[in-house]
Amino acid sequence: MLDRKVTVIGLGYIGLPTSAVLAQAGYTVSGIDINEDVVSSINRGEAHIVEPDLDQAVQRSVASKRLLAYTSPQPGDVYIICVPTPFHQDKSCPTPNLDFVLKAAQGIAPLLKAGDLIILESTSPVGTTQKIADVLKKQGVDLSTIYMAYCPERVLPGKIMIELVENDRVVGGLRLQDIDVGREFYKTFVKGRILTTTAATAEMCKLVENSYRDVNIAFANELSIVCDKIGVDVQELIQLANHHPRVNILQPGPGVGGHCIAVDPWFIVTQDPENTKIIRCAREVNLYKTQWVIKKIKAEADAFEKQKGYAPKIACLGLTYKPDVDDLRESPALEIALTLHQDGYSIIGVDPYVACHDILNVTQVYEPGAADIEVLLVKHSLFLKAQK
Ligand SMILES: NC(=O)c1ccc[n+]([C@@H]2O[C@H](COP(=O)([O-])OP(=O)(O)OC[C@H]3O[C@@H](n4cnc5c(N)ncnc54)[C@H](O)[C@@H]3O)[C@@H](O)[C@H]2O)c1
Repeated sequence: MLDRKVTVIGLGYIGLPTSAVLAQAGYTVSGIDINEDVVSSINRGEAHIVEPDLDQAVQRSVASKRLLAYTSPQPGDVYIICVPTPFHQDKSCPTPNLDFVLKAAQGIAPLLKAGDLIILESTSPVGTTQKIADVLKKQGVDLSTIYMAYCPERVLPGKIMIELVENDRVVGGLRLQDIDVGREFYKTFVKGRILTTTAATAEMCKLVENSYRDVNIAFANELSIVCDKIGVDVQELIQLANHHPRVNILQPGPGVGGHCIAVDPWFIVTQDPENTKIIRCAREVNLYKTQWVIKKIKAEADAFEKQKGYAPKIACLGLTYKPDVDDLRESPALEIALTLHQDGYSIIGVDPYVACHDILNVTQVYEPGAADIEVLLVKHSLFLKAQK
């Protein structure tokens, strides 16, 4: 198997670490990305994203010529699609945008030959693997000779290089032979268990995992709002409640961000709006929590101005969607800082992982006390250390 060439399409947070892990496992990998800057930086041996151990892995893989990046699809024996699956902005119910996935499939169609394996790793609505098969068929690909699998990625940013190898994987296929070939491929570099099923179940499995998280976080966020109103310390409450042997309440926060949990539940809601009341409601609660935090900060700032006679400078500590990553996608912290800025408040964004921002005044290093109001939005380790 290791003598097979792998082509990875999309070299972002998932595709680049996957390429480096495969190269280190002994595969020869062609990484494809439409972004020329991404391709050039990888070919210099540099990772364009922040992730522990990724830089060294990319450097070694490129130096040993096991990984080379290109801007156009290259022939391989195994194709892994890791492109974005965002949603179309529609306030009442955002719908999945499969343009990147379908374009990636169209791009490899002319390169396919008998025996090739195509794997979709992008988080996708149920039926997407079948859609790719339909696109390829339309382009004249003989599907009876090609294997197609869906294998969702469930890594935790910050631990991607470890979890890519150690996590259990779910491999789904349209036919039994797809499942077998997909499983054999993952077995060559994954230490976790390889669990197999249909493509549709594997697609739904990833969406359900993230919706489960969203619903549980929404519960904690709702509690935090209620407790604020009735004067109960939500942290103490959760700690006490979690002493019940069958209760495990998560931590509330300023909302839910990132490319996964804040997006994927909508893929289920779109597929059956009538029967997804809890999943939709959780999304709405988590979106509302961000607005609630904005209102609270504004109330503090307005009270400060009334008392002191001048408008406070507000430091928003943390802008990324979660601690210790550089990812700003769907970040509630960023939304809070941007909304306050747009509404005329004096904001300084502080984030050790964000060097600059188009709109916000941002600093990576902050001297405590430099602002009148400090709001801890993201628990970056550096902030927590400074507080001790
Ligand atoms: N980031 C995560 O933690 C995470 C975790 C699990 C699953 N996922 C899923 O994995 C998929 C990829 O996410 P990501 O975070 O790596 O996205 P990303 O935006 O970091 O990277 C995607 C890359 O694909 C490139 N691209 C887009 N269209 C292309 C095409 N036609 N050909 C070649 N390159 C193309 C983009 O330029 C970009 O560099 C998404 O479906 C996401 O939901 C992400």
